[in-house]
Amino acid sequence: MTLYGSLFDHGLTRIDPEKAHHLGFRAVRAARPVLALRRTPGTPVSALGLTFPNVLGVAAGFDKNAVGIDALGALGFGHVEVGTVTGEPQPGNDKPRLFRLPADRAVVNRMGFNNDGAEAVARRLAARGRRPGPVLGVNIGKTKVVPEDKAVEDYAKSARLLAPHADYLTVNVSSPNTPGLRDLQAVEKLEPILTAVRDVVGDLPLLVKIAPDLADDDVRAVGDLALAVGLDGIIATNTTISRAGLRTEPAEVEAVGAGGLSGRPLTERSCAVLRLLRDRVGPGLTLVGVGGITTVADAQARLDAGADLLQAYTAFIYEGPAWPRRITQGLQ
Ligand SMILES: Cc1cc2nc3c(=O)[nH]c(=O)nc-3n(C[C@H](O)[C@H](O)[C@H](O)COP(=O)(O)O)c2cc1C
Repeated sequence: MTLYGSLFDHGLTRIDPEKAHHLGFRAVRAARPVLALRRTPGTPVSALGLTFPNVLGVAAGFDKNAVGIDALGALGFGHVEVGTVTGEPQPGNDKPRLFRLPADRAVVNRMGFNNDGAEAVARRLAARGRRPGPVLGVNIGKTKVVPEDKAVEDYAKSARLLAPHADYLTVNVSSPNTPGLRDLQAVEKLEPILTAVRDVVGDLPLLVKIAPDLADDDVRAVGDLALAVGLDGIIATNTTISRAGLRTEPAEVEAVGAGGLSGRPLTERSCAVLRLLRDRVGPGLTLVGVGGITTVADAQARLDAGADLLQAYTAFIYEGPAWPRRITQGLQ
């Protein structure tokens, strides 16, 4: 077992998961000057008209407010997708809202887009300035109190504020923790959002992030729409609302309650969605594979299924700060 593994099993699991996240993230940020002395691992990848230092990025949700981009880059991630950022600041759902299912190497979250809002995050990114390091993606979502018929304006507002500071922008319509958000994945609702955001961001690479719970035909329909509205890529996938096939005791799963499940149990479906998309859209769109990637073999399988780039969140929690280097070096 790694040092982090025993620390995780004997220390971190005793701390509330959200507190552990903040503690761990603070430690990584404090260690940045030392970490930054090491060379970024892996092989550069060309995608979205950009050069990524390597194939693996931090998925959205880890750095919601863009406070640790360079520290995450120093750990070996080639890109960081900050957010989800919403048009207005919001506190997210009541705590507790983050739960570990260690027997499944999984996490359930119902954070509910807790974030500082587009204006504050844009100011923070402006203060950081453009600099070498990880490629910076910004993931935007709908403010909870904004009604569905005002969603287009809300996404457009975030895009206007954040696009000037981002290398690429992601429209998130797939988190299960904002009521009604995933309904926006229906093509007739998604099309006006993507068209409006495309108008705002001009040539900036634009992606959409989808849920693993879409039926296969709906996944293909999003692929067709992405081509029709001139998106640059698709991120597959977000967390799932399914609880099928878990090893964790059903009573424990039930006690955790609603939320999006991530980590190991997601691997197979996320990979299948990625493959479906690649078959549908052909080689032209950038596909980002995310969901349950834990081992070098998982990462390689996602690339073989057609991914150009990879992201992860949950394995990073379980495996620790050395994990991004292990994966990127392992892929070499
Ligand atoms: C605690 C937590 C918070 C998340 N927050 C967001 C978010 O704000 N926006 C988003 O698009 N995805 C969010 N995600 C989903 C991840 O970006 C990723 O798509 C998902 O967890 C599957 O990858 P994984 O199995 O490697 O964790 C979150 C995931 C977790 C575990």
